[in-house]
Amino acid sequence: MSAGADGGGGPAVAARSGDGSPGEDGFVPSALGTREHWDAVYERELRTFREYGDTGEIWFGEESMNRLIRWLQKRKIPLDASVLDIGTGNGVFLVELAKFGFSNITGIDYSPSAIQLSGSITEKEGFSNIKLKVEDFLNLSTQLSGFHICIDKGTFDAISLNPDSATEKRKQYVKSLSRVLKVKGFFLITSCNWTKEELLNEFSEGFELFEELPTPKFSFGGRSGNSVAALVFQKM
Ligand SMILES: C[S@@+](CC[C@H](N)C(=O)[O-])C[C@H]1O[C@@H](n2cnc3c(N)ncnc32)[C@H](O)[C@@H]1O
Repeated sequence: MSAGADGGGGPAVAARSGDGSPGEDGFVPSALGTREHWDAVYERELRTFREYGDTGEIWFGEESMNRLIRWLQKRKIPLDASVLDIGTGNGVFLVELAKFGFSNITGIDYSPSAIQLSGSITEKEGFSNIKLKVEDFLNLSTQLSGFHICIDKGTFDAISLNPDSATEKRKQYVKSLSRVLKVKGFFLITSCNWTKEELLNEFSEGFELFEELPTPKFSFGGRSGNSVAALVFQKM
């Protein structure tokens, strides 16, 4: 996944490259799929935030957040709907949701440093009602359930790069998602490692495509496509 793939800045995380040996999906397993990597990233970003007040990377850029918020508004999702941001990182998207008036929002991340950073940022922004928790989405504690909306911006991508049984981890992801989301609830995923068709296949059990959100197109060498897929699924 590349934070830059959607018009924003940031490093590339992805994915199906020529380096290393690809697994069955064509992905090259990578440190980017490990907790150690993300701990190191957010420890560094936490230091930078404390020193300079810089909140750090916005994965897929500002527009990726605006696109999701526009959809929530267009669909008239009530402001008290419960929203879960899966793998919230620095929590900047939670702050955006709160600025738009959403009042029941939770961010989880398996990296304690990410949760420390998102806690510092949400506190500085004055949104102390945002709930934050260290949680591994693939091994959830029992309290998390009943969400109306689940958001994933880059987390399923990261999990797909895990060097250790990524296929199993993706299946576990779908199970965890089924557990936390209410029936008829919406799942909004932004990915640059998976195409629309591949995501439809990954989430075919228990979810159906509700809407595809427009993302920037590229064309190269006579071929064209989207650098990022942004889909809304509904739990059946
Ligand atoms: C590419 S970053 C995206 C961060 C954030 N969603 C954003 O848009 O800025 C991927 C995030 O997923 C988190 N993550 C990866 N695997 C996870 C898991 N199994 N459970 C919870 N968080 C996870 C990482 O710690 C990291 O914060």
